[in-house]
Amino acid sequence: MSKLHRVKLRVNSRDYELEVPGYERLVDTLRYRLGFTGVKEGCGRGECGTCIVLVNNEPRHSCLTLTARLDGAEVMTIEGITPPGMLHAIQVAFIETGGVQCGFCTPGMIMVAKALIDRNLDPSIDEIREWLASVLCRCGSYNLFTMAVKKAVEYLKKGQIYFNEREVREKLHLKIMG
Ligand code: FES
Ligand code: FES
Repeated sequence: MSKLHRVKLRVNSRDYELEVPGYERLVDTLRYRLGFTGVKEGCGRGECGTCIVLVNNEPRHSCLTLTARLDGAEVMTIEGITPPGMLHAIQVAFIETGGVQCGFCTPGMIMVAKALIDRNLDPSIDEIREWLASVLCRCGSYNLFTMAVKKAVEYLKKGQIYFNEREVREKLHLKIMG
């Protein structure tokens, strides 16, 4: 039986103590041990970028990262970018611009966009394209993603970080039920 490693991880602002085999990948720890299924696995070999999460604020392919090597690390997935019940400005901008098609690449795209915007609140179009190129979108929505990041920057510059459901519905002109 393979040796287990004790690992302390902080994921989406909550602390976990885990015992994992040395071969366990972060994508599996997040999805199957901790239930963060917003993390998607596409290729499983570092090419598609759909599995990207933030580890100590750096974008990281969770399919190529061993959990046992992350003792003491802080991890953020798409579930951790807002308080419960809210959407982040980047998520709202992605919806508004129509960038979310099938949605499979969206969590990875948004985590990469967040890492970029956290570093540079005034990215050029070329910088946005360069960062987003680390995630493959089979629906081909790259231009929409670029527009979405620009829009998210506008929100964030105005201090609009989180939106509640009513605000999102109003923005999208959706009928408010009940
Ligand atoms: S699933 Fe990790 S890069 Fe494709
Ligand atoms: S929206 Fe479908 S893969 Fe990107």
